[in-house]
Amino acid sequence: MFFGDRTMDRFMALSASLATLLLLSYYQGSQARYSSEPSWRHWRHWNEAHATFYGGSDAAGTMDGACGYGNLYSQGYGKNTAALSTVLFKNGAACGGCYEIKCWNDTQWCNPGNPSVFITATNLCPPNDALPNDNGGWCNIPREHFDMSQPAFSQIAFWRAGIVPVLYRRVPCHKDGGMRFTINGNPWFNLVLISNVGGVGDISAVSVKGSETGWIPMKRNWGQNWECDTVLVGQSLSFHVTTADGKNITSYDVAPLDWQFGQTFSGKQFY
Ligand SMILES: *[C@@H]1O[C@H](CO)[C@@H](O)[C@H](O)[C@H]1NC(C)=O
Ligand SMILES: *[C@@H]1O[C@H](CO)[C@@H](O)[C@H](O)[C@H]1NC(C)=O
Repeated sequence: MFFGDRTMDRFMALSASLATLLLLSYYQGSQARYSSEPSWRHWRHWNEAHATFYGGSDAAGTMDGACGYGNLYSQGYGKNTAALSTVLFKNGAACGGCYEIKCWNDTQWCNPGNPSVFITATNLCPPNDALPNDNGGWCNIPREHFDMSQPAFSQIAFWRAGIVPVLYRRVPCHKDGGMRFTINGNPWFNLVLISNVGGVGDISAVSVKGSETGWIPMKRNWGQNWECDTVLVGQSLSFHVTTADGKNITSYDVAPLDWQFGQTFSGKQFY
């Protein structure tokens, strides 16, 4: 090779930034490029909503939300989360979905350049019918509203704004490791929390199969907690999960014969 090490390094750095630029321009390119991914297409459009924040500057107050994820740090959701108004929350069906959100049309409060933040839906922002829709009742029906964690909100606007207009769209969720199945309840009532879901992130149906049973459809109990009342103790467990875009994954024998209530097991993952 006639390149010196330095030259080579520079060449590599240049190629890397070129690749990034190309990727960026591709990503910001026309909607039509996504036509090969029909299930995503309509989610690529920006929609209008508003955003506020809650839970403190360390996001501590965002834990234990209505999706049932409990501790968001240990469950892999971190600080970039939001509580969704009723019409967006859809009785918990929206739990685990990922969104790109940016502040817009507010030159006073939007951060310069209108940067995006990526959040996961982990909670419900309940309606407050005592307050009018345009003054405090931000999460009332039919408003589309994101009550974001303060660290997430701070990435798009100055906190002092209180409320800002935003644009949002659905984006794929990128998760490390497999889907997680946490088995709670008791022998006559299984309550399985499904977390760390990649792909579209929100689940529309779940079935469980014990090593001695057929497939048993589960019912959404609350948030991303799914129930069934078949006794499954002493059997290995497999799960069939359908996400909102109609994709399925079956994770066989996720839990071994001697699983215990309270334990968490890792399955396959959506991408
Ligand atoms: C932008 O904000 C102004 C002032 O609040 C409002 O009158 C206008 O309708 C907004 N523009 C759009 C496109 O929503
Ligand atoms: C996903 O699973 C459901 C339930 O088992 C089934 O009805 C559906 O056809 C499956 N979809 C695909 C794309 O395989």
